[in-house]
Amino acid sequence: MTVKTCIIYHSYSGITRGVAEQISAACGGELIEVKPRKNYNKLTVYPFGGIRAMRGERDPIDPETLDVSGCDLIVIGSPVWAFKTTPVINAALAALDGCAGKRAVIFATCGSQAGETLDIMRKALEEKGATVVGESVLTRKDVNDGAKVTELAGLVKAAGNPA
Ligand SMILES: Cc1cc2nc3c(=O)[nH]c(=O)nc-3n(C[C@H](O)[C@H](O)[C@H](O)COP(=O)(O)O)c2cc1C
Repeated sequence: MTVKTCIIYHSYSGITRGVAEQISAACGGELIEVKPRKNYNKLTVYPFGGIRAMRGERDPIDPETLDVSGCDLIVIGSPVWAFKTTPVINAALAALDGCAGKRAVIFATCGSQAGETLDIMRKALEEKGATVVGESVLTRKDVNDGAKVTELAGLVKAAGNPA
């Protein structure tokens, strides 16, 4: 049986996208980029994006709904903003549909400190009935170095082929 993997991510400056693309190249899987309806820019991302993340708020997103009922494995990646998930990922987690009984792998990219990010993602997925079987935090250094990205791709592969 072929495992169908959905790789859902948000990326403001391209780093999380790059990791998601490497996972897809190594393991297969449909890449689903979630974007804010109103893009952040260098003037708004810290004062507005950072504060919204800190407060756990949700942005209006595109796509608006994320039906993963056709997927066997859900991979979700978020940049870390103010030690938390981004408002785009908060909205994506809320918009997820059809994940009960599915396995999930979560990851976050950050400068150096991910804080509560993975906890927020794990809790939201578990509330929707998914089981998080793998997780990883990648700092800027980890992304440049590459070994931890390869390790994450290994987690996704293993999650797709459980013993
Ligand atoms: C608004 C904002 C807040 C951030 N907060 C944190 C943080 O709390 N901890 C951290 O280590 N990095 C933080 N960063 C750095 C990003 O998490 C990091 O650069 C990430 O890999 C960017 O992913 P992206 O290129 O996919 O958007 C922040 C970046 C932005 C724009």
